Amino acid sequence: MHVGRLAAIATLAVLIALAVGWFLLFPSGREPAQRPLASADVKLGEYLVRAGNCYSCHTAHGGQAYAGGRAIVTPYGTLYSSNITPDKQTGLGAWTSADFWHALHEGKSKDGSLLYPAFPYWAYTKVSREDADAMYAYLKSIAPVSQQNRPHEMRFPYDQRPLLAGWRALYFREGEFKADPRETSEWNRGAYLVEGLGHCAACHAQRGAWGSVRQKDIGGGLIPMLNWYAPSLGSKRAPDEIAEFLKHGVSSGRAAFGPMSEVIRDSLQHLALADLRAMAVYLRSRGDGDDEAASGSRLTGAQQEQLMTLGARVYRDRCADCHQPGGEGVPRIYPRLAGNEAILMGNPVNAIRIVLNGGFPPSTRGNPKPYGMPPFAHVLSDGEIAAVVTYVRGAWGNRGAPVSSVQVAGARGVPLD
Ligand code: HEC
Ligand code: HEC
Ligand code: HEC
Repeated sequence: MHVGRLAAIATLAVLIALAVGWFLLFPSGREPAQRPLASADVKLGEYLVRAGNCYSCHTAHGGQAYAGGRAIVTPYGTLYSSNITPDKQTGLGAWTSADFWHALHEGKSKDGSLLYPAFPYWAYTKVSREDADAMYAYLKSIAPVSQQNRPHEMRFPYDQRPLLAGWRALYFREGEFKADPRETSEWNRGAYLVEGLGHCAACHAQRGAWGSVRQKDIGGGLIPMLNWYAPSLGSKRAPDEIAEFLKHGVSSGRAAFGPMSEVIRDSLQHLALADLRAMAVYLRSRGDGDDEAASGSRLTGAQQEQLMTLGARVYRDRCADCHQPGGEGVPRIYPRLAGNEAILMGNPVNAIRIVLNGGFPPSTRGNPKPYGMPPFAHVLSDGEIAAVVTYVRGAWGNRGAPVSSVQVAGARGVPLD
């Protein structure tokens, strides 16, 4: 047997031992009672299901809404999301509201088996019982779709579900959101949505060992497998501007791209402005980001000057028509590049990838026909892309570190979602 496997088994055995210890110390014996469902719940439930973005993960590309089957690629293999339509045989048709609550709150399936944390129950555990019941009522009201769940394709030993007990012992803390009485109700609403249903930390946090996430960590991180950088959410921007970005996908100087585009299209644009503003108020209170420090490409002064000269030429020929010669952009059409935090992060992967692949902000009610950015992967060489990205990160008073053609080559060919 492979040595790596033995090491993995040994480590997981330790994790199981820890898990058993944990459950002996803190048994979870409570059994919430089943509650009657009111029809008003269905409307609220629909809203909350949107806020949790169940749609994105539980709908396959080109598949039926909520019928599952979307592949979620992890470093440990591929998971396929479950059918959460109310079909009796293949979906949640036979589930009670208590079963549903156990899934959201404890990460357990109807038969008690442990669910993979790619399903962000480590965040949904903060959802209140009332809200969970409303979501259950909505999911019961949609059209049932008969579609068998596709078996996961996880590598050994990660295909062994019981081993998740070890992960849970180390990284999962069950518990509803508790309002902080020192903060305003708007702040608390924002915290509830960001840390709970919004599961923003799934992307905006640095992953620890075995894909662990700290619920409150939104300090920015590279999204595993997708290789997009989700920046720190501790924001200095005004709450109204952030709320506008989350609602429409564009704001005066910004446009959402990459995986954030999908989050806005499928989830955030459907939320009330008051809730988005509450989220922004909470984010603003979280202070400065602790984004990854510059992943230094060390260049001499002369090399850097050469890159900037080439970059300026590429920019004038290929980019300035849209982003404007001074990088000022066109409000709500072409994002501003001068002073744009989104391209100045230590980790330059997002700026490189959008130049390689182009992109569209999400189509939203407030911005139904967004302007797109063309891809340059086949038009520009690695060296030219490194130069133009270095240029937009360094011109007009911007202070992002230079980018090398090795970094560009590394970002080519990474799948988009
Ligand atoms: C980031 C992707 C993702 C999001 C967002 C997500 N899920 Fe899931 N969900 C999954 C995956 C993957 C599984 C399968 C987990 C497993 O088999 O262990 C799953 C499993 C489940 C299950 C268990 C089904 C079963 O048969 O055991 C339920 C219930 C569920 N999700 C409901 C929801 C609801 C409700 C939401 C929105 C509030 C949601 N999910 C959002 C990925 C996601
Ligand atoms: C699937 C991964 C993913 C999830 C989930 C996610 N984001 Fe993002 N987010 C990103 C990426 C990648 C970016 C960088 C691209 C961009 O700026 O559009 C980003 C950018 C942002 C920005 C712009 C930051 C800036 O400084 O300009 C905000 C604000 C934001 N996200 C808020 C949120 C909130 C609030 C949530 C939870 C409701 C959330 N995101 C959930 C991936 C994600
Ligand atoms: C046809 C107009 C057009 C051209 C030409 C163009 N862009 Fe863009 N650019 C856009 C649009 C539209 C977006 C928003 C895309 C999105 O949100 O997915 C964008 C987004 C960006 C972003 C991300 C900034 C943000 O906040 O969303 C960067 C960086 C960028 N462009 C750089 C460049 C560079 C460098 C060039 C030249 C090599 C270039 N663009 C050429 C239209 C253009």
